[in-house]
Amino acid sequence: MIEIIAISEAHVESFHRALDTVARERRYLAFLEAPPLAATRSFVLDMIAQRNPQFVALSGGDVVGWCDVQRLSRPIHAHGGILGMGLLQPFRGQGLGTRLIRHTLDAARAAGMSRVELSVHENNANAIALYKKVGFVIEGLQRNANKIDGVYGNVILMALLF
Ligand SMILES: CC(C)(COP(=O)(O)OP(=O)(O)OC[C@H]1O[C@@H](n2cnc3c(N)ncnc32)[C@H](O)[C@@H]1OP(=O)(O)O)[C@@H](O)C(=O)NCCC(=O)NCCS
Repeated sequence: MIEIIAISEAHVESFHRALDTVARERRYLAFLEAPPLAATRSFVLDMIAQRNPQFVALSGGDVVGWCDVQRLSRPIHAHGGILGMGLLQPFRGQGLGTRLIRHTLDAARAAGMSRVELSVHENNANAIALYKKVGFVIEGLQRNANKIDGVYGNVILMALLF
């Protein structure tokens, strides 16, 4: 049974490990490794203080997935937020991503956001399918925005309006 709960400081180390593991796959995230633990802790504490939605999926007490929406800071953008998510490989393809994103989007809406945006690598078909399924639409394409191990990749920009 995998539980989805709001993140707390007690989950920081486990969240950091999960983030680092997915980042080191070098395929999906905008990081190739997690930021340092101290920076990750500051990020999480700031998300909690700002009441930004950040949920983790726990299996046996360990973080196996996360989804968050960080509210944009400038006054003219502050109705919107940026979504990020990931699951450890063994937990993919079983509906957990769907549960996690729906939970997080409900919280973003409840927090008064009216726009959620994200960027996704063009070759990440599973993520794009998930985002479309929950209502995101494609707004743009950034050509050669990534270069990983010498290979350029396009990035798709998507957003959902409540
Ligand atoms: C992208 C990710 C969050 C999706 O979560 P998930 O739990 O694997 O996805 P779900 O099982 O909830 O499936 C969601 C949808 O994705 C698509 N999908 C997922 N796995 C798929 C597969 N193996 N083949 C085809 N489609 C698939 C389907 O459309 C599915 O919806 P459906 O089952 O109702 O048709 C997860 O795979 C992941 O963490 N990937 C690596 C990190 C990452 O890409 N993060 C996002 C960066 S932008």
